[in-house]
Amino acid sequence: MAENTQVLLARRPEGKVRVEDFSIVRSAVPEPGPGEVLLRHLWLSLDPYQRGRMSAAKSYAQPVAVGAVMECRAVARVEKSNDPALKPGDIVLGAYGWQEWSVASPKELMKLDPAEAPVQTALGILGMPGLTAHVGMSDIGQPKRGETVVISAASGAVGAVAGQIAKAEGARVIGIAGGAAKCAYVREELGFDACLDHRDADFIQALDAACPKGVDVYWENVGGAVQRAVFPRLADFARMVMCGMIAEYNDPVPQPGPNLMSAVRKRLRIQGFIVSDSWQRLPEWRAAAIPLIRAGKLRYREDVVDGIEAAPEAFIGLLEGRNFGKLLIKVG
Ligand SMILES: NC(=O)c1ccc[n+]([C@@H]2O[C@H](COP(=O)([O-])OP(=O)(O)OC[C@H]3O[C@@H](n4cnc5c(N)ncnc54)[C@H](OP(=O)(O)O)[C@@H]3O)[C@@H](O)[C@H]2O)c1
Repeated sequence: MAENTQVLLARRPEGKVRVEDFSIVRSAVPEPGPGEVLLRHLWLSLDPYQRGRMSAAKSYAQPVAVGAVMECRAVARVEKSNDPALKPGDIVLGAYGWQEWSVASPKELMKLDPAEAPVQTALGILGMPGLTAHVGMSDIGQPKRGETVVISAASGAVGAVAGQIAKAEGARVIGIAGGAAKCAYVREELGFDACLDHRDADFIQALDAACPKGVDVYWENVGGAVQRAVFPRLADFARMVMCGMIAEYNDPVPQPGPNLMSAVRKRLRIQGFIVSDSWQRLPEWRAAAIPLIRAGKLRYREDVVDGIEAAPEAFIGLLEGRNFGKLLIKVG
């Protein structure tokens, strides 16, 4: 008899996330009700926003309740169907949590065509992180030929795509990443013009050398020390795409911020965004990205961890920079 292994939020973390903040339980595989389908999860997506869902602090989304299944998007196979819209064997994308099985209504699911692209890319480059890069770069960053674009967390799921989009627009793209291997990947595989290691002692000097005329577009994924380094180097009329500040997600109190008076003096446009407001644009992003991936002009990297029991440790690694590429849990 199959069991459903689930990862629950055991308690709200204080500061750094610990393995003890999660609990792993086994329960019966659920039965689909009328109009529902039974899903066997194949791939789970681990993403930085899940750190926010572990906290009760006020946010744009509701937190996960203590004792509830951790939240995530997943790719799953339909095992049983009580709705003619889906049949057993169909592969779907939906939001089902850190678990092996779930039930859902077909209207909450997007059917995937495995012939179009590997199905797990619906959690990475052809899903939420790719769409984030597309929306933020086209609506806010708007890079122009010859401009200098700086991307933090450049080897990651969002940063890698954001930088490649800016490069395709003719910008000079400078990545920032942690460690020599990530920087080499960003330069050599993704084709950025340069990549700087934010852990290097001479990071600030390297940033000055790479951006002699300042920074026209800064894609903010990180915050903290990296933001404090890039912010004063923004050029007049720069755009700062406020996507995330992962370096600060574990902080119990907010860090002192940059002096935003520069935003006035330099007529900067700084705009935050949440990708879920633009979810209806996913087909637009997939239609643009699939031919580029097939032609080898848009590249991606996956960091695949085996088995749901490894999810808590892998998630903690994501918050500490141990992942290298889009972090996925392979379940089935
Ligand atoms: N606004 C939206 O709608 C939206 C949607 C999706 C994602 N996001 C945000 O986008 C950002 C990137 O997400 P992702 O899914 O692409 O993750 P990711 O880049 O694949 O993984 C996170 C990376 O952040 C970097 N990092 C972690 N702690 C750091 C620190 N203290 N200092 C500097 N860098 C640190 C690490 O890279 P290095 O080792 O290279 O430093 C780590 O590998 C996150 O801030 C996330 O919250 C926002």
